[in-house]
Amino acid sequence: MGAGIALVSARGGFETVCYDLSEDGLARSRVEAGKFFAKSVERGRMSEEERGAALARMRDTSDLDALADCDLVIEAIFENLEAKKELFGKLNGICHDRTIFASNTSTLSITEIAGGSGRDDRVVGMHFCLPAQLMKLIEMSRGLNTSSETFEAAWAWTEAASQVPVETQDKPGFVLNALLVPFNNDVIRAIETGLCLPEDIDLAITSALGYKMGPCTLLDLIGLDTQARLGEAFHPITLDKRAAVPPLLRRMVAAGRLGRKSGCGLLTGIRPERASAAPSFGLTRSGDSRSFPDGDLFLAKAVADGDVTICLGGHYTPDPTKICVLVELDTECLGHHTGEVNDGAPSNAVGFARYRNGGDPPSNLVELARQASTTDEAIAGARAIFEVAGFDVVVCSDQPGRIVDRLVRPKYNDALRFLDEGLASAADMDKICCMGLGYSDGPIERVVRGGLVRHHDICHALHEMTGLAGYWPARAAVVEKSREGANR
Ligand SMILES: NC(=O)c1ccc[n+]([C@@H]2O[C@H](COP(=O)([O-])OP(=O)(O)OC[C@H]3O[C@@H](n4cnc5c(N)ncnc54)[C@H](O)[C@@H]3O)[C@@H](O)[C@H]2O)c1
Repeated sequence: MGAGIALVSARGGFETVCYDLSEDGLARSRVEAGKFFAKSVERGRMSEEERGAALARMRDTSDLDALADCDLVIEAIFENLEAKKELFGKLNGICHDRTIFASNTSTLSITEIAGGSGRDDRVVGMHFCLPAQLMKLIEMSRGLNTSSETFEAAWAWTEAASQVPVETQDKPGFVLNALLVPFNNDVIRAIETGLCLPEDIDLAITSALGYKMGPCTLLDLIGLDTQARLGEAFHPITLDKRAAVPPLLRRMVAAGRLGRKSGCGLLTGIRPERASAAPSFGLTRSGDSRSFPDGDLFLAKAVADGDVTICLGGHYTPDPTKICVLVELDTECLGHHTGEVNDGAPSNAVGFARYRNGGDPPSNLVELARQASTTDEAIAGARAIFEVAGFDVVVCSDQPGRIVDRLVRPKYNDALRFLDEGLASAADMDKICCMGLGYSDGPIERVVRGGLVRHHDICHALHEMTGLAGYWPARAAVVEKSREGANR
């Protein structure tokens, strides 16, 4: 992180002193800096002269005294409170009185780090995103004793360096990691329960929500050991069970399966080929369909007596003569229609839902839900129908919320609660997620657009089935639900 932040600083026109304990580390960073600026010239992002000037502004040192004249010191040493306090304590004796100390910590408290600095009014949180030289967002936070003057000066520095500062409070994980760490753990727990393949989680989330990167790809990229460390840091502070390190994550780390850096992580590389031919299908209708509303082009492909029956609106009539009977689901499980008690007989019933955020048009994602008795032939038939029609298809076991709602509803609840707690404004929270995580829209915008009452109803159903606190609807959703009742 430090090497990337130094690039931001030098590119932004600031004389930049790079200090590290490790001279090898400094030398490696210097080589990378040369390569990065050369690529920037190649891509037309800077001129040859600007490249030379930026490199000339960077100076390496393993002598802390060399920082004496700096106006701003940004620390990005390893994530340990005592080490950061000790470093700021030493720098306090070396630097000018005017020097501002900033910490790039991901999880620690700025107020606590400032406690070791001897100048806690001049300490500020500046949380860059990885890789700092490519990501514009910086989460900025004040410790309890940070002066306005310090905060404004640090803010002005980030803008002068062409970064985008967003203010958050000094709380564990600020906004970005506070939303991401429990969400990522939920993803790992979903895999652990056998919900579906990691590849299907990535496809579901990118297709339904427009995230640039699936969560399993992201976890493999940042490293499962990093995710475990973040969970270990968060859980004791927040006491949020979702932040606690999932058993599967512990096992993966113990086995050296750390993701891309070790060549083996969550993603398995297994996914069935997309189907190229599909059986015919007919429709039954017992009410409005959220997946395929009237006029949807898919409906025109239906025939009178197809090899598959699709039950729009959910009412299930068994028919063993069909390859499969597809039952449209809302918040309920397939078992609601077929029964949870099974005599072991194979079944051709498959649940399905096309993901849709409230009243938004339905997405391109179709989730298929299978019970233990559902046959592979039934799943293959269902998959083929939707894939040949151009949909992205994922298969999961018949668990509450299937893939997308199971994973995103707790995150929406967190975001709504953070708003109540004043962690950041709604606009800033959305901006942080779009800029820092590559979401196509922010969690607040999305949950509000989808309807807080709809969010309440989904969460209520999931909470009833799972008992998990993450599904307990956030206050704003409860209020909107009660207003709906009162206005009826
Ligand atoms: N990796 C990320 O995605 C990410 C993102 C945002 C913030 N951060 C935060 O940035 C900080 C660094 O993370 P990282 O992933 O770059 O860690 P890292 O382990 O890759 O790098 C830490 C560097 O600090 C040096 N160092 C350690 N102790 C030192 C000391 N006392 N004085 C000077 N240098 C010292 C090490 O030699 C090493 O070069 C942490 O606080 C982390 O939470 C990390």
